[in-house]
Amino acid sequence: MKHLSYKHGQNRDEIFVENVAISAIAKSVGTPFYCYSKKTLIENFQNFSDAFLQNKISDYKICYAIKANFNIHLVKILTSLGAGIDAVSAGEIFRGIRAGCDPKKIVFAGVGKTREEIEYALKNGVEEFSVESVAEMFLLNEVAVDLKKVAKFSLRVNPNVDAKTHDKISTGRKGDKFGVDIEDAEEIYAKAAKLSGLEIHGIAMHIGSQITTLEPFELAFKKLRELCLQLRKNGQKISALDFGGGIGILYKNENTLLIHDYVKLLKKITEDLNVKITIAPGRAMVGSAGILATKVIFLKETEQKNFVIIDAAMNDLMRPGLYDSYHEVLPVTKKFGEKAVYDLVGPVCESTDVLAKERVLINPKSDDLFIFCSAGAYGSSMSNEYNCRPMIPEILVDGDEFQVIRKRPSFEEMLRLE
Ligand SMILES: Cc1ncc(COP(=O)(O)O)c(C=O)c1O
Repeated sequence: MKHLSYKHGQNRDEIFVENVAISAIAKSVGTPFYCYSKKTLIENFQNFSDAFLQNKISDYKICYAIKANFNIHLVKILTSLGAGIDAVSAGEIFRGIRAGCDPKKIVFAGVGKTREEIEYALKNGVEEFSVESVAEMFLLNEVAVDLKKVAKFSLRVNPNVDAKTHDKISTGRKGDKFGVDIEDAEEIYAKAAKLSGLEIHGIAMHIGSQITTLEPFELAFKKLRELCLQLRKNGQKISALDFGGGIGILYKNENTLLIHDYVKLLKKITEDLNVKITIAPGRAMVGSAGILATKVIFLKETEQKNFVIIDAAMNDLMRPGLYDSYHEVLPVTKKFGEKAVYDLVGPVCESTDVLAKERVLINPKSDDLFIFCSAGAYGSSMSNEYNCRPMIPEILVDGDEFQVIRKRPSFEEMLRLE
């Protein structure tokens, strides 16, 4: 996070998000909690819009992939800056619209849209659909005809490109469940063109997440370009290309790509095509804008390992358990003294509840505060109440102030829907 630093606090150097000490938030709301920097979020969005400006691209749409973090207060900030939404469920469409997004700027993506969800989208003014199968194409047409509407049709193609990322967040290789084989696209577009509830609009792709080099993007984008030219040759009106998301962020020591270079590549690929460009970044928008703050409950030493047992767990941050992902861990207050290696583990009754492995910490003690960095994306949005642990609060820092943007529910509130 850009606006995260050690500053001289009450006693010693401690971590601040913008101008607010993490220890002050902990005192007020308890731990664990997610904390976001408004400034960082805004700058992340502006990084993209500036890159389009610098590359002299005017016909573009940045659709925030709301799955990365759906807190409405964060989504509102992005929509107020002009972001559209990439949604994969009716619930995400609902939130996007509630957050002020014009439904015309929402793209309904996702591999398993139900009839009810398609109806919901069309009735609420969503026009663009990124369709992932032939069956979905026919269903979309049927629902649109019933509602006397015309849906803008883009086919999500699978370009068979290895995104060179973690296996579990790769989506554009043969055998992945997403999209349709790029070789079948011409035939599918020919069928779609005959359906009165559909208007051929564009082509979509998304090859995976946390991609840190331009090469996989370039390979896939070139394939999309070739398909666009071929479909136009076949008489199809392709007016938009949706390149998806997937841009990686810094978790450890990755050489991440520059947004400017990514957009420059989009320019190179589309310069002579006269198409509207859509991108759908999620992680790159919110990932670096959030941290997870947690407190040490106990220390436990065994013959093999030293454990720091913290009050955050895999239900709050699933990524390490799910993808072996790495989040940098920092002590909220700088310490001096003896160093040792620890695993930071949560209280959940699963062996996968390890949030950080083999980290060098200085003299950790009960009640010490730590933060997990770059936790703004796929952190709170993937969290759950496993072990009857309440969902943790979310805090938004804006300059010198902080606001609770999601409360910690009481046990009674957790029971309410049952
Ligand atoms: C269709 C689509 N677009 C965009 C994204 C956002 O990806 P990222 O958060 O890596 O930018 C995803 C993530 O799964 C996706 O499935």
